Amino acid sequence: MNIAVLASGSGTNLQALIDSAARGELGPARLAVVGVNVADCPALGRAQAANLPTFVVDHRRFAARDDFDRALVAALDLHRVDLVVLAGFMRLLGPAFLDRFGGRVINIHPALLPAFPGVHAQRQAAAYGVKLSGCTVHFVEAGVDSGPVIAQAAVPVRDDDDEESLSARILVEEHRLLPSVVRALAEGRVTSEGRRVRITGSWPMGESLRSM
Ligand code: GRF
Repeated sequence: MNIAVLASGSGTNLQALIDSAARGELGPARLAVVGVNVADCPALGRAQAANLPTFVVDHRRFAARDDFDRALVAALDLHRVDLVVLAGFMRLLGPAFLDRFGGRVINIHPALLPAFPGVHAQRQAAAYGVKLSGCTVHFVEAGVDSGPVIAQAAVPVRDDDDEESLSARILVEEHRLLPSVVRALAEGRVTSEGRRVRITGSWPMGESLRSM
């Protein structure tokens, strides 16, 4: 299964996928290409350091979102992509993209959806005062962070947490969760019935986390 990763920032989730692949932990998933929309983002450097094919599609070059989406599709279509992983990709994708890759796009979000969708999820969670937060990997549909949940991992929110400390604790779980989901998808162990997504077979995150 050919995986494309789209990123915009530091790329630590991309790095987790690269490291998992190097350890043989992604099963039949193969990182085929990494695309970014920010030419100087660290994620691009991580992909290049891992000798992965890369492309840059700068959203600022496009007046209309559809045109940006179509440029992304054109770049991905060079690589026979089976699954698109949004790993800190900070642009919303519209119908021109989702119609092409429908049902084969996943995103990682740093909160327990449906709580705290959108940007600054960790800041929102800390400010709200929840006692648990975490991360969610979900299928991408039209709408912000609203597609069916594939898997989640929870972390405690401590009394003295701020956005930074909570983000760091969540990120540790993101780096475990995302490769686990990519592997399960590549191994054909993810089934959906409406919004309810089930992962069968082995699950390295632990049984309790699978059902959280
Ligand atoms: C992560 O917290 C991810 O959940 C969110 O953006 C951040 C990206 O981090 N969507 P990185 O670029 O993978 O380091």
